[in-house]
Amino acid sequence: MTRRCPLVAGNWKMNGLLASLAEIAAMGGAYDSALRARLELVVCPPATLIGMASDLATQASIGLGGQDCHAAPSGAHTGDISAEMLKDLGARYVIVGHSERRAGHGETDAIVQAKASAALRAGLAPIICVGETRAEREAGDALRVVGEQIEASLPADSPDTIVVAYEPVWAIGTGLTPTVADVAQMHAFARERIEARLGGGKSAGVRILYGGSVKPANAGELMSVANVDGALVGGASLAAKDFMAIAEAYRVIG
Ligand code: PGA
Repeated sequence: MTRRCPLVAGNWKMNGLLASLAEIAAMGGAYDSALRARLELVVCPPATLIGMASDLATQASIGLGGQDCHAAPSGAHTGDISAEMLKDLGARYVIVGHSERRAGHGETDAIVQAKASAALRAGLAPIICVGETRAEREAGDALRVVGEQIEASLPADSPDTIVVAYEPVWAIGTGLTPTVADVAQMHAFARERIEARLGGGKSAGVRILYGGSVKPANAGELMSVANVDGALVGGASLAAKDFMAIAEAYRVIG
């Protein structure tokens, strides 16, 4: 069986000023060699901080990621940032298709797929987000919706270095989480759909993260579920203390 190194990624969203860089240094202080052997740690600060976070993150053995990128490598796109620009600053990852961008910026699956392709073109690993709304789950449509998002948001020729994040929209920033059984069902299903999309056994290498109200108190339980290969953490990634308490779950998970 392919061993997938767990990945815990922090999504700072539109939070963080210069003073927040100290949190990255503090994360490095708690990310000891035993933990480094067990999981990969990534921080996705706002674009304004990526350049200045770069050396700090390298010293701390923490990977850097962007929160979004444009599909084009450069050009007349005021306010946008390309995957190549993120790569240039030392980023290794970029989140694409987060539900806040799908909802707040009208991003369709086709746009998300184009952004994921741009990330791969630039040498970044896209963290491609999918997840159902509360209404979709209540209607019994969660699997269908996520299956369709995977089919339409993942570039068909993706390598197994892409990351997929299952983030139920209703669990983001709400303190609510799905049951362990629901997470297990969705992640097993997601891996099947990723295989159907990519083929060639590649899904065995793709890391599928769970995201939505991951906290120190629930990380151990959620990260122990089969086919959960890490977490995409929002609110609890802003403070090193909380983020590292989540990472600590992997000290004991076999
Ligand atoms: P949350 O956000 O951890 O604050 O729920 C997760 C995310 O949106 O990635």
